[in-house]
Amino acid sequence: MNGKRIVCVVGTRPEAIKMAPVIQALQRSDWARPYVLLTAQHRELLDQVMRLFGLAADDDLNIMKPNQQLPALTAQLLLALDAALERAAPDAVLAQGDTTTVMCAALASFYRRLPFGHVEAGLRTGDLAYPFPEEGNRVLAARLARWHFAPTETARRNLLREGIDEGAIHVTGNTVIDALLQVAPSAQGLDLGFAQGRRLVLLTAHRRENFGAPMAQVFRAVRALVDRHDDVAVLYAVHPNPNVRQMAQELLSGHPRIHLAAPLDYEPFVAAMKAATLILTDSGGVQEEAPALAKPVLVLRHETERPEAVDAGVVKLVGPDYEAILRESETLLTDEDAYRAMARGVSPYGDGEAAGRIEKALRASLD
Ligand code: UD1
Ligand code: UDP
Repeated sequence: MNGKRIVCVVGTRPEAIKMAPVIQALQRSDWARPYVLLTAQHRELLDQVMRLFGLAADDDLNIMKPNQQLPALTAQLLLALDAALERAAPDAVLAQGDTTTVMCAALASFYRRLPFGHVEAGLRTGDLAYPFPEEGNRVLAARLARWHFAPTETARRNLLREGIDEGAIHVTGNTVIDALLQVAPSAQGLDLGFAQGRRLVLLTAHRRENFGAPMAQVFRAVRALVDRHDDVAVLYAVHPNPNVRQMAQELLSGHPRIHLAAPLDYEPFVAAMKAATLILTDSGGVQEEAPALAKPVLVLRHETERPEAVDAGVVKLVGPDYEAILRESETLLTDEDAYRAMARGVSPYGDGEAAGRIEKALRASLD
């Protein structure tokens, strides 16, 4: 083989975490020349992950603007990606997940008639409005993709239902578990001094459809939870999206047992998941990682495109709902049997070998 150039497009923190193992696997191969194309839809969050995994950009579009809105972001991404693909002249393009970067990477590849591989393909809630805009992004990306790297059988079935050709789907596991297994055994860099030995509840929240009233309910419930349990401390790694930061500051600051932290680098964040008694989140990635670390997760959403851990009983949907968050959190903090039932350590999303399967499938197809 003559060294196929595979452009790996990466825009946000979770894409960097989940593409890092794929880029590494392609680097290790004797047939591919991975070319890392950053859109930098995220800036600081992205750069941190790149450093951790020892990755360097071959091209960086530096797209991020403060409080960016979807139409402008999409328009700028499409134009910049088109020019970048012309510069790179790749044999294939890969992108991971459901962000605006991914949707634009699929479309830009389509316009340039380049084969596009979708990593983490087939996740669906079935409702275009939830999560917004991610469900729309992944449906569009799927329609344009040549290879669909589905993390689970459920994801494969979702794609088949949409008429995707069976031969184009590869069930690989989720690359997030590859990344987690690289980092978790020695994860450090977390200062838990503020918790003073109390039980730790870890919180993340950033979904666009939760902005405003739903997010306010989440924050009020978290505050009520710590007020009721003085042996509990909350660590909230606040997402830099200004819509989130402002409300977090308004509703959660000034409490001695609620620590509002800047976004944590991936290694300390993994250490925080390991240290946590309970995790409250609307994050996709955290829903996949926490079960592998045997940590119960309450999801601050009404639906999830990741039903496997819910079905296994280790993740529960509570919605951005004040009463449900308080009730289910208190059950887990006070009822040992309920806690043990959810803290079982299952990993429905992968075995740490997903990136290798993606590399092999691409090799077989591009050879
Ligand atoms: C984006 C994705 C979402 C993904 C999430 C992961 C879209 C539309 N949304 O949401 O699917 O779950 O990333 O975190 O693709 N910001 C910074 N520095 C950073 C990153 C963000 O300051 O490193 C701020 C900027 O003001 C930026 C804003 O956050 O404009 C929003 O970033 P954006 O990527 O549009 O949306 P997210 O909410 O981060
Ligand atoms: N994460 C991190 N630092 C944080 C919060 C999350 O490194 O402060 C990691 C987390 O472990 C997961 C990924 O970022 O791998 C998830 O990113 P996010 O929740 O922003 O996006 P989503 O997965 O919802 O798209």
